[in-house]
Amino acid sequence: MMAKTTIKLPFLLLFFTSLTLTLAVAENTAYPTIPGTQETGFSLANEVPAPVRREVYADGRIYDISHRITTNMPAFGELEGLGQYLWLPASIKNGSLANNSEMKLATHTGTHVDAPGHVFDHYFDAGYDVDTLDLEVLNGPALLVDVPRDKNITAEVMETLNIPKGVRRVLFRTLNTDRKLMFRKEFDSSYVGFMRDGARWLVQNTDIKLVGIDYLSAAAYADLLPSHYEFLEGREVILVEGLKLDGVPAGLYNVHCLHLRLLGAEGSPIRCILIK
Ligand SMILES: *[C@@H]1O[C@H](CO)[C@@H](O)[C@H](O)[C@H]1NC(C)=O
Ligand SMILES: *[C@@H]1O[C@H](CO)[C@@H](O)[C@H](O)[C@H]1NC(C)=O
Ligand SMILES: *[C@@H]1O[C@H](CO)[C@@H](O)[C@H](O)[C@H]1NC(C)=O
Repeated sequence: MMAKTTIKLPFLLLFFTSLTLTLAVAENTAYPTIPGTQETGFSLANEVPAPVRREVYADGRIYDISHRITTNMPAFGELEGLGQYLWLPASIKNGSLANNSEMKLATHTGTHVDAPGHVFDHYFDAGYDVDTLDLEVLNGPALLVDVPRDKNITAEVMETLNIPKGVRRVLFRTLNTDRKLMFRKEFDSSYVGFMRDGARWLVQNTDIKLVGIDYLSAAAYADLLPSHYEFLEGREVILVEGLKLDGVPAGLYNVHCLHLRLLGAEGSPIRCILIK
């Protein structure tokens, strides 16, 4: 798929793009994002001030907890990361009146949401796509909690977290954030996620309907399908995966997550912010 689309592009444009990208990596070091992570800047045009890319807005009141979509970000099961996802079939430099990009990416790319149809074919057929997800679950008071760093999220871990009844949205920060897994190109199956008993415990013993996690899957790799089944079977819990929780103090926020209304899609990229 990548190669086929690439061939359509004029060689010169390709050359130009890679040249600009190379230059940008060097120039953009003036705008570090998360300390210790790779810079993900884009090209800087001559004579135009470089854009500022931010993680935090409004003097620390608003945190952007979505990852930028970049060619180097990890993709589930991939060694080489996301790869090219954006093309510029019409460009000013090529004689068009405007630049018009096209993108092609898996719906479960980067920070994204899962709909029940993701792992249940009968829900997929019945139309439980991302357009049917409850915006009230995706927006409202939310707790950002740190989980023990030496375990996956089991029933025992869930119990010790002591999340009060009535809490409906929880973002779980794990060892994945410390390991900066979302900033590494190569997919790492040793990420921390929910084991089946942890997912079941959450569904049966808490009021949590929004589960946020800091790598590409809320389910640990060892329990990939079983944990998804536990979460999604009741069609009440919404999973937001691949969150960027670096440098955000634990505590209570208002979360705002908005995905795309992709009719028929069981996943979608999602933009999430936390407001203090
Ligand atoms: C861009 O330029 C190439 C080479 O001249 C041409 O084949 C292509 O049709 C142009 N694309 C657009 C959108 O103008
Ligand atoms: C417009 O396209 C040119 C390439 O022809 C590119 O260098 C430039 O960054 C594009 N501008 C925007 C705003 O995307
Ligand atoms: C979590 O589970 C994965 C397998 O899904 C395993 O590779 C990893 O070591 C576990 N992490 C911890 C901290 O126990």
